[in-house]
Formats: sequence, C-alpha cells, structure tokens
Amino acid sequence: MNKHDSERIAGLLQQHGMEPVDEVGAADAVIFMTCCVREKADVRLFGQVSSLKTLKKRNRGLPIIAVGGCIGQRDGEKLIEQIPHIDVVFGTHNISSLPELIERAYNESITQVEILDDSVDEFSADLPSVPESSFHAWLPITTGCNNYCTYCVVPYVRGKEKSRMLETIVDDAKQMVDAGVKEITLLGQNVNSYGRDLYGEPRFADLLDKIALGGISRLGFATSHPKDLNDDTIAMMARHDNILDYLHLPVQSGSTAILEAMNRRYSKEQYLELIDRVREVMPGIALSTDIIVGFPGESEDDFEDTLEVVRAAQFSSAFTFIYSPREGTPAATLEGQVPDAVSQRRFERLVDEVQAQALEFSRSLRGTKASVLFEGISKRDENVLVGRDRHNKVVHVVLPEHTSAEQWEGFETEVAITGAHTWYITGELSQTDPEEN
Ligand code: 5AD
Ligand code: SF4
Repeated sequence: MNKHDSERIAGLLQQHGMEPVDEVGAADAVIFMTCCVREKADVRLFGQVSSLKTLKKRNRGLPIIAVGGCIGQRDGEKLIEQIPHIDVVFGTHNISSLPELIERAYNESITQVEILDDSVDEFSADLPSVPESSFHAWLPITTGCNNYCTYCVVPYVRGKEKSRMLETIVDDAKQMVDAGVKEITLLGQNVNSYGRDLYGEPRFADLLDKIALGGISRLGFATSHPKDLNDDTIAMMARHDNILDYLHLPVQSGSTAILEAMNRRYSKEQYLELIDRVREVMPGIALSTDIIVGFPGESEDDFEDTLEVVRAAQFSSAFTFIYSPREGTPAATLEGQVPDAVSQRRFERLVDEVQAQALEFSRSLRGTKASVLFEGISKRDENVLVGRDRHNKVVHVVLPEHTSAEQWEGFETEVAITGAHTWYITGELSQTDPEEN
C-alpha cells in the first residue's frame, strides 16, 4: 500500500509542477513514506532522516523533509519534537494535502503538521499517479482494517475498513488494460471482506469476476484473511485463467491457542482445512504466508505447531517475523513476553523449514513450462533476465544475444524450467526474440 501511495504522491507533486531528481543533494524536498508495523521500520526512519541533517545545514534549510504514512499518522507533532529537522508531517488520510504543506514549509520556513482521522472521504487511488512500472499496477480496493489482530497497529493508523465503489475499481482496471498494463495487483488489508461496508455483504468474488473479464493478462491480490476467504472466491480464482495461480494467505501462527490470543478467529485445523479446499480446485497453486514467532505466551509446543503447519501447507514462500511489541496494541501489555534469545532461535528454525519448503516447491516446477512476465535485468548479473511465473515465483533466464532488457520488459512468454533454487527457478526461453510473434 505504501508503494502505491508513493506513486500517487509522485503524481500529485508532478501535477503541482515538481519533478523527481536522481540525487538527494539536488532535491528541494525529500518525502519519507513510513511504516510502523514493526519496530525496525521506526528505527530506520530516524537514521535516514538524521543522515540529511548536514546537507540541510549546508544548504540553507533545504531539502524540505516531509514524513508521511503510518508513523506520521501515529506521531503527528511529536515527530518534530523528536527529530527537529523534519519540516512537514502528514498522515495516511491526507496525502492530497502534501503539495500545499510542502509549498508552505518552503515559502514560509515554518513546520507544517496536518493529521486527519479516517472520517475523511479520500482514497489515495483517486489521486493522479506516476506508476513505477509500465506493465504492473497496484489497484487499491479497500483501505483500513477492522480486524484488530492483537499485535497489529494497522487499524489504528489506517483507520476503519472502507471499500471503493465496485464500478470505480472496474473502470480503473479497464483504463490500466488500455494503457498496456499486463498485471494488476488488487490491494487491501483484507481483500476478502471487500464491499461489506458498501453493500452489506462481501463482494470480492464478484469484483474478481468483473475485473478478470475486463481482459487483464494477470490478476493477483493481497492480502487474504483466512477467516474471510470463502468458497465463492476460491471458485472464482479457479474459473479465470488470468487470475494468478498464487495465493498469499497469512497464517501468523500454527497454534490454535496463540491464534486465539492474536484474535485471528480461526484454528490450526480450520486453516489447514481451508488450504485443502483451495488445493482441491487448484491443485498446482502456490501458497505463501506470513508467520510471527515469539508472540507473548508462545510455548515450545505452540512453536512446534507452527512448524507442523509449515510442513503440512508446503508454502512456496513465507514472510517470517519476530514479534515486535507495538505501543497501544493489546498484545504489547500481555504477560509472557518471549525472551529475545528464544524468539531468535525459533526464528532461525522457522526460516530453515520455510527455505526447505520453498526449495521443494521450486523443484516441483522443474520440467514444466512456465509463462513468465519479464521485469528487467538481474541486479547481480547483466546477462540474466528476471521475471515471474504465474505462481509468482521468480524466474531467471539468460538474456538472448542481440536483444536488450528493455525489449523483454513487460513481455510474457514461455520458459522451459530446468533449474530449482530456494527463491528462484531457472529455465530456457522458447522464443529468443521478443519481436518475433
Ligand atoms: N510484530 C511482528 N510482525 C507483525 N506483523 C504485523 N504486526 C506485527 C508485529 N507487531 C506482520 C504480520 C502481518 C505482516 C504484514 O506483518 O505477519 O501479516
Ligand atoms: Fe493487521 Fe490483522 Fe488487519 Fe492484517 S488483518 S492489517 S494483521 S489487524
């Protein structure tokens, strides 16, 4: 969501006559989009803003430093007290105010702080945009979250769940297709409850159907909450070939007791049963997940349950986190906070298991033909083209002679998969010239 919001910020600023520059030293303003889901992100903001202090001193107060997103929303004025060289603070509900706040800070040299609550009727998705990619687009369908998982700060900084009108989203998707976008990722904290606030019942399956029929090559979405992923949605995913063969379904923990303490509202068995239902209709689907270790009260047995779920679910990938207490959330004051060393040990064991599963998944793809959408050249090797298959698995191929990365960017074609690694697979292109069709 932050990546998407940043594209809208770029669009807004451009509309106000501002332009991006390559070097921080040449900028009149630097904008930080922040996340406060875990403590690490907080610390990073502090370090990055501080690194601009000398430049600002040397340069008569420039660049203007603006901090927005979740940390802005959470801390408001306090941020300026903590880091005095910040000039502008904005929140998650008033991105559209940013150009004006920057202009005022620039012209009047006084700090500007504007934080609004979620009663504001603004969707960042309705603002102008400078997309980072010409072939992939983020498309927000809801903002905010009503779930109040006990460890999570998101409902407090993103506000209550609000859905965008179905027709608006379908129109946006059509425009993206017309503009040459190949892949759309629908965004929401809990896409499965899309529409509940507007239509009295979730209409995510319906939304998927309408967008898939609009002719996009690839359609994905994030994030799904297991308690709300229903059979209609599963059936809709199976019905449309252009919906990716990939589902991100955060489990968070494999222990029913911990899931209850997290307020996730499903049990270990219900989660496993749900993925069985998914695999029944889409046997080859890639499942990824989010897992937290060291939640307060997590015993060795609870952690073993998590490992068991990882083995049973055969995830193609997983984002793994050590529990990070967030002030103001119920879990932060729970008894039984797990010592760092214990969490760290569990985390390492979890990562080993996740990597073993990911490698297993990669191996299962050897000998198959994958449809790969190419994104560009590898950062590590200029002879390697990188893309993703329909399982969202990263694919590497050798850049064919006499072709350039630009010719392949945004181009989808078949690759015969020959090699398997933990986080990527390798293969051979069936077609060595993107122009030949
Ligand atoms: N500590 C650790 N991980 C967290 N997440 C959310 N809040 C916390 C926290 N306090 C993780 C969850 C979520 C992902 C985006 O971040 O796994 O799905
Ligand atoms: Fe946070 Fe839970 Fe909402 Fe996800 S569903 S954003 S983890 S409160």
